[in-house]
Amino acid sequence: MKMARHLAVSVFICLLSLGVSYPLIKGKPDDKGSNRLHINETNTNATDPADRCAEEGFGAMTLDDQGVMHYFRDSFVWTGFRGKAQYINETWPGLTGPVDAAFRIHNKEQPQLHQRTYVFKGSRVWSFFEGRPVSGYPRPISQEFPGVPDNLDAAVECHSGECKTDSVIFFKGGKVYIYSPHEVPPVKERRWSALGNCTAAVRWLERYYCFKGTNFTRFDPVSGEVLSPRLLDTRDYFVSCPGRGHGEAAMRNATFASIKNRCSGRPFEAFSSDDKGRTYAFRGGWYFRVDSSKDGWHAWPLNHTWRTLQGPVDTVFNWENKMYFIQGSQVIIYLTDQIYVPVLGYPKSLQEELGLTEVDAAFTCPLSSELYVIKGNKLQMVDLKKTPRVPGEEKVIAHTQVDSAMCNTHGIYLFQGPVYYHYLNVGQLLTASQWPKPGNISVNFFDC
Ligand SMILES: *[C@@H]1O[C@H](CO)[C@@H](O)[C@H](O)[C@H]1NC(C)=O
Ligand SMILES: *[C@@H]1O[C@H](CO)[C@@H](O)[C@H](O)[C@H]1NC(C)=O
Ligand SMILES: *[C@@H]1O[C@H](CO)[C@@H](O)[C@H](O)[C@H]1NC(C)=O
Ligand SMILES: *[C@@H]1O[C@H](CO)[C@@H](O)[C@H](O)[C@H]1NC(C)=O
Ligand SMILES: *[C@@H]1O[C@H](CO)[C@@H](O)[C@H](O)[C@H]1NC(C)=O
Ligand SMILES: *[C@@H]1O[C@H](CO)[C@@H](O)[C@H](O)[C@H]1NC(C)=O
Ligand SMILES: *[C@@H]1O[C@H](CO)[C@@H](O)[C@H](O)[C@H]1NC(C)=O
Ligand SMILES: *[C@@H]1O[C@H](CO)[C@@H](O)[C@H](O)[C@H]1NC(C)=O
Repeated sequence: MKMARHLAVSVFICLLSLGVSYPLIKGKPDDKGSNRLHINETNTNATDPADRCAEEGFGAMTLDDQGVMHYFRDSFVWTGFRGKAQYINETWPGLTGPVDAAFRIHNKEQPQLHQRTYVFKGSRVWSFFEGRPVSGYPRPISQEFPGVPDNLDAAVECHSGECKTDSVIFFKGGKVYIYSPHEVPPVKERRWSALGNCTAAVRWLERYYCFKGTNFTRFDPVSGEVLSPRLLDTRDYFVSCPGRGHGEAAMRNATFASIKNRCSGRPFEAFSSDDKGRTYAFRGGWYFRVDSSKDGWHAWPLNHTWRTLQGPVDTVFNWENKMYFIQGSQVIIYLTDQIYVPVLGYPKSLQEELGLTEVDAAFTCPLSSELYVIKGNKLQMVDLKKTPRVPGEEKVIAHTQVDSAMCNTHGIYLFQGPVYYHYLNVGQLLTASQWPKPGNISVNFFDC
C-alpha cells in the first residue's frame, strides 16, 4: 500500500492502438491532470516559436525525477502534455536554451545519482534533481561521460534489462555512442542507419523513441531496429495540439472517459501483482500499472501488454511466473518475463483448468501455490500443484460482493466498488465477523 502513496498524479489523456499514448502531466492531487505551471489550450500558432505544436519539433526531451515530461526547443521548454512555453532559464536555473540533449539517469546502484536529469549543451552537461541544479555542474561532457562527444543531437537512458546494463545512448550525426560505465569498453560506437539521425530521444514506459522534427519512431535500444510501422507525429501523441490527437471524440463519451480515468471511482475488475513486483489494475479492457509512477499514470489497452487479450477480465492471479486471466468461463495464461508471452493451448475452460465454473475474484499470496477464489460470500482454496485441481471446502466470509482481490507481502486486499478492505492473512479474513475500516482505492492505490 505504501508503494502507492508517494505516487504523483497525472491524468490519462488518450491512447492509440499503436501502443503509444500521451506522457502525462503531473500536478497536485486535485488538479485533475492540469499542468501545475501553466495551461493554455488557445496558445496555438504554427509559426510562433513559442508554440509547442510548431513544425520544428523538439531539440531535446526528458522525464524528470517526478515523472514529468519536458520538451525543449530553442530558448523554450514545455512541461507536460499541455504545457505553455516558458524560457528554459526561468524553470531550469543556470541553463539557457537552446539545449542539445537531455535524459533522466537510471542508476539504482548509486541512489545519489538515480533519477537525476542531465541536460547537454555544447561541451557541457548540467544536472538537476527535484527542480534544483546539482552543485558542481555544469561539467565538461568529456569528464562526466568520457568518450562521449560534444555538441550532441540526442540522448536517452537505457535501463538494465532493456539494455545489458544501465547505459546511456547518445546520438550525434550518423553515429550512436552507447555509454555503459560497467562494460569494457565503456563507450561503444554504432551506426543505426535504419533509424537515422535523432534530434531528441526519450524512454517512456519501457519504450524508446527517436524524434526528427515533429516525426518520431520507436526503436530497439540494443539493435537500433525501427519498431514502429511508419513515422508518427509527436503532435498526435506527445503534446496536445488543436485538431490533432486521437482521443477527442472518445473523450466526449463519459463511460469511456471514466474507465480510463483512474480517479473516477469506477470499480476495477481485477488487481494483480506479478513475481517481478509489477502491479496492475484492470478495468473495461484497459489496465493501469500501479507500481511505477515515475513515468506518470496511464490507461493502456490490454493487448498492449498481453497481445491476445481484449475486453474486460473477471479476475487475474499469478503463480510460478505465470499470469492467469479469467474471462467468463475461460482461462488464458501468459508467461511472466520481460515481456508476457501467451502459453500455447489456451484459452481453456475454467472447469478444465481449475475445476470451477464461475469466480468473482481470486488471489494467490507470494510464494504460495494456494489459490483462493471468491464467489459471492464463499471462499474456496484450490491447490495449484495438484492435478486435477479440485476446489476445497467452501467457507463463508463477511463480504457478499467482491469485485477483485489481491495478495502481496502486505496481506490481502478485497476490492469493492471504490473501496478496499485489508486483511493480514486468510485466517483473519475467515474469522472476521465485521469488515475492517475501508480504504479508498483512488487515494491509496492511485494517488488521486
Ligand atoms: C489491440 O486491439 C485493438 C482493438 O481491438 C486493435 O485495434 C489494435 O490493433 C490491437 N493492438 C495490437 C498491438 O494488437
Ligand atoms: C490563453 O492565451 C490567450 C492568447 O494568448 C489569452 O488571451 C488568454 O487569456 C489565455 N488564457 C489563460 C487562461 O491564460
Ligand atoms: C503567430 O506568431 C507570430 C510570431 O510570434 C506572429 O507574428 C503572428 O501574428 C501570430 N499569428 C497569429 C494568428 O496569432
Ligand atoms: C532568458 O532567456 C531569454 C531568451 O534567451 C532572454 O531573453 C532572457 O533575458 C533570459 N533571462 C535571464 C534572466 O537570463
Ligand atoms: C545524419 O547526420 C549526418 C551528420 O550530420 C549527415 O551526414 C547525414 O546526412 C544525416 N542523415 C540523415 C538521414 O539526415
Ligand atoms: C516527417 O514526415 C513527413 C511525412 O513522412 C515528411 O514529409 C517530413 O519530411 C518528415 N520530417 C522530418 C524532419 O523528417
Ligand atoms: C462509449 O464508450 C464505451 C467504452 O468504450 C463504448 O462501449 C460505448 O459504445 C461508447 N458509447 C458511445 C455512445 O460512443
Ligand atoms: C475517495 O477519495 C476521493 C478523493 O479524495 C473522493 O473524491 C472519493 O469520494 C472517495 N471515495 C470514497 C468511497 O470515500
